[in-house]
Amino acid sequence: MNNSVSEIKEKLLDDLNARMAKECHCALKETATQAVPGKGSADADILFIGEAPGKNEDLKGEPFVGAAGKFLETMLGSIGMAREDIYITNVVKYRPPDNRDPTPEEIEDCAEWLREQIALIEPKIIVTLGRHALNRFFPDAKISEVHGHAFRCDLPGIGQHTFYVLYHPAAALYNGGMRATLIEDFGRIPKLLEKIKKDPELD
Ligand code: URA
Repeated sequence: MNNSVSEIKEKLLDDLNARMAKECHCALKETATQAVPGKGSADADILFIGEAPGKNEDLKGEPFVGAAGKFLETMLGSIGMAREDIYITNVVKYRPPDNRDPTPEEIEDCAEWLREQIALIEPKIIVTLGRHALNRFFPDAKISEVHGHAFRCDLPGIGQHTFYVLYHPAAALYNGGMRATLIEDFGRIPKLLEKIKKDPELD
């Protein structure tokens, strides 16, 4: 069978997610309905990383299926993209009870899973959604200072990648100022992608 690269990556990502759902030791497994590994194209140029699944995601097993997900879809549409064109996942792969913040231990327990997803997808841009995703990679960064900025960094265990920082769609949904900023920052993604495709070393 003559599989395309994207079909092979799709299969490898499915296998990875199935294996990690079995092997992940995250304590959130005990209270969550199921794992929410991620969804989209295994060959995506852009990997979006949110915080953690919420109630709807926990029930469906898919990330960003609630109001924040609809908002994200609208913003993707505004730059001529759809969910199928990107991959979307979270820092932790199980819903924290009552949607509390994930603990550092829970983030660490899911870290290998996220690392392997990044290595397999090889995205041209990693877009962090909200401060938890940002601080997973840049512990001291303040989202209010770095949103809308791109960084090319070589991080231990992750490798060399371009990161682009956005506010979380759920936080921006009902906050007019933050919403306008997020939409504006989001609108810069196509130019950034174009630049990176021409020269991956560009900041
Ligand atoms: N918020 C997140 O960070 N992730 C989801 O999957 C849904 C809402």
